[in-house]
Amino acid sequence: MKITFYGHACLGIQIKDTHILVDPFITGNERASSIDIDSIKADYILVTHAHQDHTLDVEAVAKRTGAVIVSNYEIVMHYQNLGLKGHPMNHGGSWKFDFGKVKYVNAVHTSSFPDGSYGGQPGGFVIQADKTLYIAGDTALTYDMKLIGKHYDLDLAVLPIGDNFTMGVDDALIACRFIDCHRILGYHYDTFGYIEIDKPQAVAKFDARLKRLILLDIGESMEV
Ligand code: NI
Ligand code: MN
Repeated sequence: MKITFYGHACLGIQIKDTHILVDPFITGNERASSIDIDSIKADYILVTHAHQDHTLDVEAVAKRTGAVIVSNYEIVMHYQNLGLKGHPMNHGGSWKFDFGKVKYVNAVHTSSFPDGSYGGQPGGFVIQADKTLYIAGDTALTYDMKLIGKHYDLDLAVLPIGDNFTMGVDDALIACRFIDCHRILGYHYDTFGYIEIDKPQAVAKFDARLKRLILLDIGESMEV
């Protein structure tokens, strides 16, 4: 399993020959101007919630690639009504896709579309394939994360660390304990003023607790 960071909360995940794109927000992100969105492959697009900084490029990428949009029921209905392909899920449910098993899990946040219409309830994903990956989505620290620690042996967790709209670095450190994973890829930081962080300080806080915070450059990839 290989992950590429496309800035903000957008990830590319490659599992063997399958390409998964998560929360595409590239054309609206000045910091991601080096990314050529038309070169991104996608068989599936996973959407955690409807906010614009997670859905801006869903329609364009799905139209170009024919990717299947995987999200909560309301978000998938929204895109199916635009003629796009989707697979609706809801919290606590899992589905075995051709690349692995996906569970849509709880997040504490909101989920309206940019026009104010209802985008269901926000979530995160646990992907079980050759590796097990938790993508938290936009969320507060929540006790529900303990369920993930109990039921999965995670190889990597992707957690928001930008504070203000989601948990920040200190709560992400507590989340590590709840999910029982000490290798974290941080996201949802630095994109705009509300979520700017001190990166060296964030990494040092993790180091001090013998945990690892990975912060990728935009366009950079890592093996899970
Ligand atoms: Ni959000
Ligand atoms: Mn967001």
